[in-house]
Amino acid sequence: MTVLVTGAAGFIGYHVAQRLLARGERVIGLDNVNDYYSVQLKRDRLSELQRAHPDFRLVEADFADNAALVRSLDGLEIDRIVHLGAQAGVRYSITHPHAYVQSNLVGHLNLIEFARHAGARHLVYASSSSVYGSNTKLPFAVEDRVDHPISLYAATKKADELMSETYSHLYRLPQTGLRFFTVYGPWGRPDMAMWLFTDAVLKGQPIKVFNGGDMRRDFTFIDDIVTGVVACLDNPPPDDGTPKAGGSVGPHRVYNIGNHRSEELMRMIGLIEAATGREAVKEFLPMQDGDVKDTYADISAIQRDLGFEPTTTIDQGVPRFVEWFRRYHGV
Ligand SMILES: NC(=O)c1ccc[n+]([C@@H]2O[C@H](COP(=O)([O-])OP(=O)(O)OC[C@H]3O[C@@H](n4cnc5c(N)ncnc54)[C@H](O)[C@@H]3O)[C@@H](O)[C@H]2O)c1
Repeated sequence: MTVLVTGAAGFIGYHVAQRLLARGERVIGLDNVNDYYSVQLKRDRLSELQRAHPDFRLVEADFADNAALVRSLDGLEIDRIVHLGAQAGVRYSITHPHAYVQSNLVGHLNLIEFARHAGARHLVYASSSSVYGSNTKLPFAVEDRVDHPISLYAATKKADELMSETYSHLYRLPQTGLRFFTVYGPWGRPDMAMWLFTDAVLKGQPIKVFNGGDMRRDFTFIDDIVTGVVACLDNPPPDDGTPKAGGSVGPHRVYNIGNHRSEELMRMIGLIEAATGREAVKEFLPMQDGDVKDTYADISAIQRDLGFEPTTTIDQGVPRFVEWFRRYHGV
């Protein structure tokens, strides 16, 4: 049977597909390879997948177009889905709200409808730490209320969790929602701070440091994220009426996946400086709309249920990212 990985040309989807293919799974990737950021980077990830695993198959389609989605997957025996495709990014949601409604709301509905009709055994989908908005109780736990998002991106992710909860109740569709915390690593995303900072430092250009540098993030290395995603995929929530992580009594769990360490932004910048051997020229700016000051993941639910333990500190992970970045760009 086959696993469908949406967003397979994206950062996390690429790595999840790699891990599943490496352990012998049949994987179909679904992505529209859109130009939110470098299409070349997405094509390079896909080439890597195809080079390492000639069996990997990509379906190029827009999952916000239901007819196109159904047509493109017709006849494929899909029994598990990892839905990672989305319009990501907090800041872009301020300027391009409709893209989020299409990919994250319409797209999510299309995927859960597809899963229902396909009789899928399990759908694992991406939510985000952004759902915690400006909650001040740290660390953020899945039991906390998340009714006050501060970006449309966050609102769409919370809405996805609610739609999934409904489908687990109405159709008993087993699902796991994952609130990822600032994921980084090789083949990362060019719109995220670690990439932007590394790029600027290597070019000798100034970096924009928001809120005067007074921010903390629970940075999570990609390999730890993938381990968590695959552990979830292998353990669909039982439909036994007991309360699950996140509070559902249906077959639906919601977990945080983070590193369980909240790191100072300035420390992350220091690690980039050390790894590049160059000093960053810092331009200190006020807080940006939609951004939160602190993130910190309480991961006790996924630790308890699945034995998940992140193992990569930023001291180890940042140099690995910088090394990949330099190799990829030849700089
Ligand atoms: N990277 C992080 O730190 C982070 C943090 C929290 C949540 N997330 C979530 O994790 C998931 C994966 O994130 P990522 O960092 O890999 O992002 P990404 O942008 O690298 O990957 C998303 C992929 O989805 C594809 N896609 C978008 N809309 C589509 C559509 N309508 N039809 C088909 N394909 C479409 C894009 O082309 C892209 O390749 C997303 O849901 C994101 O919101 C990521």
